[in-house]
Amino acid sequence: MPDFSTTYLGLQLSSPLVPSASPLARSLDNLRRMEDAGAGAVVLHSLFEEQINAESNSLDYFLTHGSESYGEALSYFPEASAYRLTPELYLEHIRRAKAALKIPIIASLNGISAGSGYVVNRRQGDWIKYAALMEQAGADALELNLYYVPTDPDLSGEAVENMYADLLIDVSSSVHLPVAMKLSPFFSCLPNMARRLVECGASGLVLFNRFYQPDIDLDTLDVVPHLNLTTPQELQALRVPLRWIALLYGRLEADLALSSGVHTAEDALKAMLAGAKVAMMTSALLMHGIGRLADIRAQMLQWMEAHEYESIAQMCGSVSQKSVPYPAAFERASYIRTIGVGH
Ligand SMILES: Cc1cc2nc3c(=O)[nH]c(=O)nc-3n(C[C@H](O)[C@H](O)[C@H](O)COP(=O)(O)O)c2cc1C
Repeated sequence: MPDFSTTYLGLQLSSPLVPSASPLARSLDNLRRMEDAGAGAVVLHSLFEEQINAESNSLDYFLTHGSESYGEALSYFPEASAYRLTPELYLEHIRRAKAALKIPIIASLNGISAGSGYVVNRRQGDWIKYAALMEQAGADALELNLYYVPTDPDLSGEAVENMYADLLIDVSSSVHLPVAMKLSPFFSCLPNMARRLVECGASGLVLFNRFYQPDIDLDTLDVVPHLNLTTPQELQALRVPLRWIALLYGRLEADLALSSGVHTAEDALKAMLAGAKVAMMTSALLMHGIGRLADIRAQMLQWMEAHEYESIAQMCGSVSQKSVPYPAAFERASYIRTIGVGH
């Protein structure tokens, strides 16, 4: 049987299939089922900056006195009780998940404010301290999701990139854990941004984050937020990260994870061939159940055997653009060929 193991963020994984951050990870039972179905690691749902700030009044006490005293600490700050224990429950979830599972647990921190130079008030930076608390709780790695939609025309692309880099430095310098950064595809020069993030401490890049898409309801004239699941029919969901992983593979000192649009064994195989160390999944598991992981694993192994691949490592990046000396020219040529100019 082909070797199905992979490495990701310096961790040895028995499988390249990894459930990405989603509400599925809130249940310990689901996490156990993911492990049983063949997940190589799990990414927990995110802890959001907003959840943390909601109780920042009690945070200093917590940090000074340790997690054991946290319940007691809250009693000193009754105004925080409306949001009682949310971040602490997250940390407790990490502890329980670590005790229950053998596979690595990747905690997820989701925020945007603060970072060197961006502190509007000191409290806003407090969420970053949760990176260290996640490490203490036993997380094996951290995924940092900086969900940010720039709306200010005075803000340059460079300023936004600096903000990402500074936040990453703040987070990665506060922990010993490997940190992966979950990115959006919306950068002017993604390879440059990717390299910069690696220089700022990212051990991995997760391509890509999925923004929720607002729509307009024509009856109520309300703006309605949508967080749609990807579907196998939405070809771009997979192809956008697939292209970027193929372009970035071999050019960075970091592991690449493909997130978005992986629904089938074929999709996960393409992710590996392009150069991803892991293929992440949420929508497929929400639609078909966690057992889908086992089906995909079996079908991938079958394909690998049929195509005489001995290991995931052998497949990784074998259809990337690593050996293409001028990828931009290659991309342009493919574009011209595809739209049929000159025929
Ligand atoms: C209901 C739902 C909740 C999600 N929650 C998070 C989250 O907390 N943190 C995060 O980084 N991504 C979150 N995501 C994004 C997924 O991790 C994933 O990147 C995205 O769904 C694209 O992958 P897919 O095509 O496999 O679904 C969420 C997605 C869905 C559908």
